[in-house]
Amino acid sequence: MTATRNLIGLLLGNEEDWPRAFDEILRRLGPVAGADGTRHAFDCERITIEPFGLRDRPRYDLVIDRLAYWYYVPREWLKKVALMDDVYLLNSPFTFQSMEKHAAYCAMIRLGLKVPETVLVPYKNPVDNDRYAYTAAKYNRPFDLDAIAEQIGYPLFMKPYDGGAWRGVSRIRNPAELHAAYDQSGEMLMHLQKAVDYDVFARSLSIGAETMVMRFQPEQPMHLRYAVDHDFLSPQVGAEVVRIGRLVNAFFRWEFNSCETLVKDGEVSPIDYANACPDVALTSLHYYFPWAMKALVKWCIFALVTGRQPKLDLETDQFFKIADEAGASYAEKLAAYGDLADAYFETERYHDFCASRLPHIDEIVLDWIAGPDFDQLLIQTVRSAYPAHEHDQFIAHLRGLLGLWVRDESSRLRTA
Ligand SMILES: Nc1ncnc2c1ncn2[C@@H]1O[C@H](COP(=O)(O)OP(=O)(O)OP(=O)(O)O)[C@@H](O)[C@H]1O
Ligand SMILES: [Mg+2]
Repeated sequence: MTATRNLIGLLLGNEEDWPRAFDEILRRLGPVAGADGTRHAFDCERITIEPFGLRDRPRYDLVIDRLAYWYYVPREWLKKVALMDDVYLLNSPFTFQSMEKHAAYCAMIRLGLKVPETVLVPYKNPVDNDRYAYTAAKYNRPFDLDAIAEQIGYPLFMKPYDGGAWRGVSRIRNPAELHAAYDQSGEMLMHLQKAVDYDVFARSLSIGAETMVMRFQPEQPMHLRYAVDHDFLSPQVGAEVVRIGRLVNAFFRWEFNSCETLVKDGEVSPIDYANACPDVALTSLHYYFPWAMKALVKWCIFALVTGRQPKLDLETDQFFKIADEAGASYAEKLAAYGDLADAYFETERYHDFCASRLPHIDEIVLDWIAGPDFDQLLIQTVRSAYPAHEHDQFIAHLRGLLGLWVRDESSRLRTA
């Protein structure tokens, strides 16, 4: 009878002793009997460092890692194979590192979202570690950056795997810009990602069970990035953007996060959704600031009063079960994820709770925002955020937008 072959991968630094011993023992052992008379054979191989597409399939069934704790190329590859390919890991990188963009891309690709084509490339400069020279000489494969970019197609974005605040983000139109950006990246670990040519940029902010979708203008200065626009998405696309944000948050157990999606001809591509420490400054949120503060207060109260238990484990299998279902469409999967998100966030219970226990919160917040105390806060915020010669301009700007919110909120409450 033929044996099932199992490939074990080793991620190694400068050690030679135990990997050889391990390999030798495996070889001497030969095939092993499994359940029902099956037989398992084992091969062992050292894993080399090279670019990998996030949709590539790994060859390994199990990986023993002695490298990723200081070298981030294999660390990210481990997360990819953990999230997408069910490779058994000793140990899971999630036991020693939290989330960043890379893991979020992997997870959402596996769940079937339309994440643009993305490749992680090894560092431009040597890693600052004594062990690097030996490891790189032995295991780092040379690679052709131009060929990778060509395959993704220009224009593309180069951005750090763990980005934030546009650090190291560049839009690349040709090989010259590609090499300039890669040379610049130095010690930062970068993704190359296909640029989405979008009609509209929708950024959603989620706080517990609530999500606000806003039109985002990344080319504008900070205080103008969120536009006040209530009808910039069709109802279907708006609902999809909300679902995607809630899915990301339920999956990673984030209850305070923002999610960036690019919309082209009704197709929604998420590009950045690991922002689990989102900007909620008055100067950037302006019109949406009262909503955010209210949602944050309600969610905290809800959690405390109902004794909600924090979840540290991600229970990814519930999501993967839906993701891996043969024949299920994108829309069907999104709907099923929506149910999981509602269960995680206790959406119905939350809304019932707010309606029954916090019935006056809307009036209370409206009253505050419309009154002199909030105006003082607005003035002080501007004074601490901008130089003196800009104070008048920004106070007027924010008063205008908050005044608009007061008007809209008043009429909403009157008709409610
Ligand atoms: N694939 C893409 N297609 C089109 N535009 C992109 C893409 N990736 C990034 N961008 C643009 O670059 C900007 C910064 O990228 P990204 O959000 O990934 O970086 P960041 O450092 O997390 O920024 P922030 O902290 O503002 O969220 C985005 O707001 C968007 O305008
Ligand atoms: Mg971003």
